[in-house]
Order: sequence, then structure tokens, then C-alpha cells
Amino acid sequence: MKTIQLKTEVPGPKSRALMERRQQSVSIAPFHSTPVFLARAEGATVEDVDGNILLDFAGGIGSLNTGHRAPEVTDAVKAQADRFLHTSFNVLAYESYVQVCERLNALTPGQFPKKTMLVTTGAEAVENAVKVARAYTKRKGIICFEDAFHGRTYMAMTLTSKTHPYKAGFDPFAPEVYRIPYAYCYRCSYGKQYPECAAYCAEHLEDTFKRVVAAEDVAAVIAEPILGEGGFIAPPAEFFRTLLSICRKHGILFIADEVQTGFGRTGKMFACEHYGIEPDVITTAKSLGGGMPIAAITGRSEVMDAPGVGGLGGTFAGNPLSCEAALAVMDLLERKPMLGNAEHIGEVFQQRARAWQSRFTLVGDVRGLGAMQAIELVKDRRTKEPAKEEATAVMEFCYQNGLITIGAGSYGNVLRLLMPLTLSGDELNEGLDVMEAGLAHVTKAMDNKPLHVL
Ligand SMILES: Cc1ncc(COP(=O)(O)O)c(C=O)c1O
Repeated sequence: MKTIQLKTEVPGPKSRALMERRQQSVSIAPFHSTPVFLARAEGATVEDVDGNILLDFAGGIGSLNTGHRAPEVTDAVKAQADRFLHTSFNVLAYESYVQVCERLNALTPGQFPKKTMLVTTGAEAVENAVKVARAYTKRKGIICFEDAFHGRTYMAMTLTSKTHPYKAGFDPFAPEVYRIPYAYCYRCSYGKQYPECAAYCAEHLEDTFKRVVAAEDVAAVIAEPILGEGGFIAPPAEFFRTLLSICRKHGILFIADEVQTGFGRTGKMFACEHYGIEPDVITTAKSLGGGMPIAAITGRSEVMDAPGVGGLGGTFAGNPLSCEAALAVMDLLERKPMLGNAEHIGEVFQQRARAWQSRFTLVGDVRGLGAMQAIELVKDRRTKEPAKEEATAVMEFCYQNGLITIGAGSYGNVLRLLMPLTLSGDELNEGLDVMEAGLAHVTKAMDNKPLHVL
């Protein structure tokens, strides 16, 4: 039996009425990728307020690798709610906070003594990673990448690349941040081709130290192992190996932002494991909490201890409910075959998306690792002109036909998969069938007339 069951058009009348109220009362600034209001959710399916059952391939923007309301997570949260809700770890400590740190120290890549501290959001984790790096190195410079996304607070926003809507109008930005091209091979900033380029973009960091900022003034290089919001770009392994060896040579810390890539999304617990690299500091959030807000900064003990006592923290940092959820998530990822399912999702998607690429000229690039997969849409394969309106139209077709998807990319022309890793093979194929129908629908519309704003 099909999972998707639509009783009304999507959005239905109740969702539309709620959206009207939302327009009146909520700032327009928080965006919606789908105009649907939720009633309940389980695993990879959601039920909207009109009684429609939809498949969720967005997973709370990658926060639900263990699925909506995993029973182990909700049981742990409920049990904690019966004990205490909040103390502030800075006032009254509790074991679950320590356990989460112990587990993350053991789970994250890096064969050296580590320590962790907990916060609430990915952006906050990034802010604190920069703080520990500056405190430890006593240097100020931070190097980040084109197409990066690290969050919306001031330092995280400064590190983020995309101008609209994330940065335009919000300057001035944090000082001492320098940006260099990422290994976006489909649109190489240097016009080179992999593998002949031999990771020129990483080697080029040495040139940056001569022409832009001195190596001895740089505290850290921060990178996502696979660009998330930037369009699911997985660089060749040499990119990170070269970057890390240059960092080591100059006493610069390497911070891996695994907020989106972590906790099984790529078929390994952390995406860095694909590249065989050991970052000095790792930021995590999103799926760590299985739907609860929690984030972490894990790093070399001496780096994490560099700020003075009281230098880092926050009232709600490492909230007890979220700590219990995180422990349940880590248990689930270790016990259940979710990493294997992520691999399987990636293989099935690659097979289907390669066939789409030969059928639809719209599909310019197919890429990803494990279940972190995407297609980049272009109006013309030769010029690679980004097909933003077409990507929006495919996503619109998808939710109207019961599949929640989410876009990405600096040009807004990437469709990415962030479904729960618990979804079944049938659910996967059903969702991909909708995507395929969406591509066919938009291709047909392109043949008849150009798409403008939809
Ligand atoms: C790689 C990365 N870092 C940081 C963030 C910011 O996380 P949050 O939205 O929880 O602040 C995100 C969010 O998408 C992200 O993908």
C-alpha cells in the first residue's frame, strides 16, 4: 500500500487558513519551503491538519536521521520530564550532560584526548568553536569557504557565504574572516577539472597566506565536510587531506562543521570518516537531538580547555530533556542498521538520478555521499545556467503530490534529500517516483513555455 494519502489538495483548507493567520502575526523573515501545517508525525511520514499523509524527505532540515518521534527518543524525553526539566548545568549538574560529552568524545574521529561542551543550536556551536580556536591559538583570523553555511548569528552569518537572504542588509559582519573557494568541482572557481587539478583549490591556501592573510595570524580553517545549504557538494578526499596538512604545518586548527553531515547522514557516523581526517574541533547539532534542540563542540582537550572557567556556557545549554534524547539517538545509531540504510538510500538514489540525468536535460549534476544526495538543475547543460524557478516548481509539484522536499545551493537550484534514515525501500521509491514525476512535469512545462515566478 502507498504511504502517501491525500484527502484534499495540498495545502488543504485548514493549512491555508493557518497560513493566513501566520501572515498576520508572524514576521515574514522565517521562510517556509512548504505551506503545510502539521498535526502529527512518525518515522518518515507526516499528517497535516487536513488529514493528508505525506512523505517527509526534508526531515526537519536534517534533524531527524532517526525519524520522527523515534519511540526510544520520546520515552527518554518523557521519563526525564517526570524527573526535572531544567536546572542550568552551570548551577546544578546532571549525569546525562556528562554522558553525552563522554559519548561524543569517543564517537567523533580523532585518536587524541577530547573534551566536549553542549549548547543548543548549530550556530551557537560554530560561535563557540571559533571562541575556543581563538583562545587556544591567541590568533584572530578564521578562514571559511565560498558556498558555506554555518548559521545565522553574527559570527556564524559572517562565515556563511550566500548573500540573499542570509547576509544582505545585516552588515557589518564580524572582522578577521577570510573566504576562499571550496572544491565545488561542477562549478570550479579556478576553471579546472578534477582529477587533473590535483586539489589545486586546497593547495591555493598557501597563496592566500602570501596575498590575503598571514598564516601566523590565522587561528582556524572551518569547513563543512560536505556543503549542506551550499548544495550537497562532497569534495574529493585530497581536498581535505591537503587542507589539513597545510593547517598542521602552520599551527592552524581545523574545525569540521558536521552540523548537517553528522549522525549517519552520509553512511558513516561523521562525514570526516570518509576522508580519513581528524579535525581538531567538530561542531554537531541537528540530528544529535532526534528532534530536540541540542548542539555540541568537541575537540582536543587542550583546545577545549583554553577559555577560562565561565568563558563558555548558556542558561539552556545542554538542557536535560535534550541530553536524554541525544543519548537515545546515539544508542539507536549504534544498535540499528541506519548507517547501512543511509548507504542503501544513496545507491538507490544515484541509480534513479543517473537515469533522470539521461532523460531530463534539466538535471545537470548528481552528487552526494550516503543519504546526503542531491541533484543540481540547470537551464542549459553547456552554460550551466542555474534553473532556480524550475527547482522551485519541482518542489511545489512534490508537496502538491504528497512529498515534502527542500532545496539548497547558492543559486537555489539544488534539490537535496534529508529524509529520516528509518524509511523503508517502498517509501524511498514512492518518494522518488514523485520527484521523477515532478521533473517530467517541469520539463514538459519548459518545452511549452518558459517558467517565470511560480
Ligand atoms: C553546516 C551547518 N552549520 C550550522 C548550521 C546552523 O545550525 P542552526 O540552524 O541549528 O543554528 C547549519 C544549519 O543548517 C548547518 O547546516
